Amino acid sequence: MQHGAARSVRTRFGVSLRIHHEPLVELGRALLRQGYSFITPTPETHRRANRNAEARGRARGSSLRDVFGWNRPFDQGALPSPLLSLLRDANALDVRQDDLRSRVRFSTLGGRAFAHGSYPTVEDDAVFFGPDTYRFCSLITSNMVPCARVADIGCGSGAGGIVASRFARDVVLSDINDSALALARVNAAIAGLERVEAVRSDVLASVDGSFDCIVANPPYLADAAARAYRHGGDDLGSELSLRIARESLDRLAPGGRLILYTGAAIVDGVDVIQRGLLPLLTERGATYTYEEIDPDVFGEELDLAAYQNVDRIAAVGLVAVMPMTSGAR
Ligand SMILES: C[S@@+](CC[C@H](N)C(=O)[O-])C[C@H]1O[C@@H](n2cnc3c(N)ncnc32)[C@H](O)[C@@H]1O
Repeated sequence: MQHGAARSVRTRFGVSLRIHHEPLVELGRALLRQGYSFITPTPETHRRANRNAEARGRARGSSLRDVFGWNRPFDQGALPSPLLSLLRDANALDVRQDDLRSRVRFSTLGGRAFAHGSYPTVEDDAVFFGPDTYRFCSLITSNMVPCARVADIGCGSGAGGIVASRFARDVVLSDINDSALALARVNAAIAGLERVEAVRSDVLASVDGSFDCIVANPPYLADAAARAYRHGGDDLGSELSLRIARESLDRLAPGGRLILYTGAAIVDGVDVIQRGLLPLLTERGATYTYEEIDPDVFGEELDLAAYQNVDRIAAVGLVAVMPMTSGAR
C-alpha cells in the first residue's frame, strides 16, 4: 500500500471513507474470534483516558483494544500480521512515517462488533457510535415486538437496526452519510445478516413502503459546525427529531410503533421535544410512553451561546404505537 493513500477524501456526506468491504468484515469477525471487546465512552472520557495512558508511558498502542478501541497510534509489530494485512486491505490503515493508525474503530454491543469512525470524530461525515448508541439499543430491546419490516433512520454504524433485526424479518438502514452506510453494510455482514438494505436517504424520502416499526437515534444538538452526526437543526437541535417523528408516524402500518431516542433541551423546566411531539401524537391517535432516560447529558454544551437559556439536556425515549384503524398514508 502507498503511504498516505488511505486518507479520506473530504466531501459533504459523499463517499469519503473509501473502505473496502470484505477485508473489513473479515477483520471484525477475526476480532470477535479473538475475544475482542470494547465499550466506547464519550469523546471527553476518551480524551482523558488517552491522556492518562500517555502519562503512564502508554501513548502507543500495544493491544487490540488500544488499536481498535482507543485508536492509539501503533508500531507494525503491535498487531498480529493477519490483522494488519486485513486493515491494510480494507484501506483502513493510516501510515504516517513510523506511526500506524486505524481509520476505523470497533466497539462491541451484545456480543457483536461494530466498525465506526476514528477518534476524534471531527469530520463532518464522521460515523458515530457512543453512549447514546448503547442507550438507544437498550430502548429498542426493551420495547420492540416481533414484526415484518423495520427501518432505522439515521442509522450511523447500523447498530439500532442490527439490534432490531432480532425482532424483524426485513431491515432498512437509512442515513445521509455514505461513510455511515458503508460501515453499516460492513456491520450487518459481520453480524451475518442478509435481509438488510442500507439506503442513502434524507429521513425516509428515498425509502418506499410502510413499516411495522421505525427506530431512530438522530442528532440532537445545536452544533456550530453542523456535523451530520451531531446537528439536530433549529430550535435547540430539536428540528430533525420532530421531523423524523412526524414523517415516521405517517409511514407506520396500523398498530406500528416508533421507538425514538433523542436529546431534549429543557428550557425553564419545559422539554422542547416533548412539547413538539404531543400534538403529533394526539393528532394521529397514537398511544405512547415518553421517559427521561438520563436527566443530564452533554452538560458542557451549556457553555455555548446557543444554550444560554437552557437548564440542561436530557436523553429521552419515546415509544409510540399507532391505532389499529389508521396507518400509513
Ligand atoms: C447521533 S448519530 C446516531 C447514529 C446511530 N443511530 C447510533 O445510534 O449510533 C445520527 C445519525 O443521523 C444521520 N443523519 C443526520 N441527518 C439525517 C437525515 N436528514 N436523514 C437521515 N439521517 C440523518 C447522521 O449522518 C448520523 O449517522
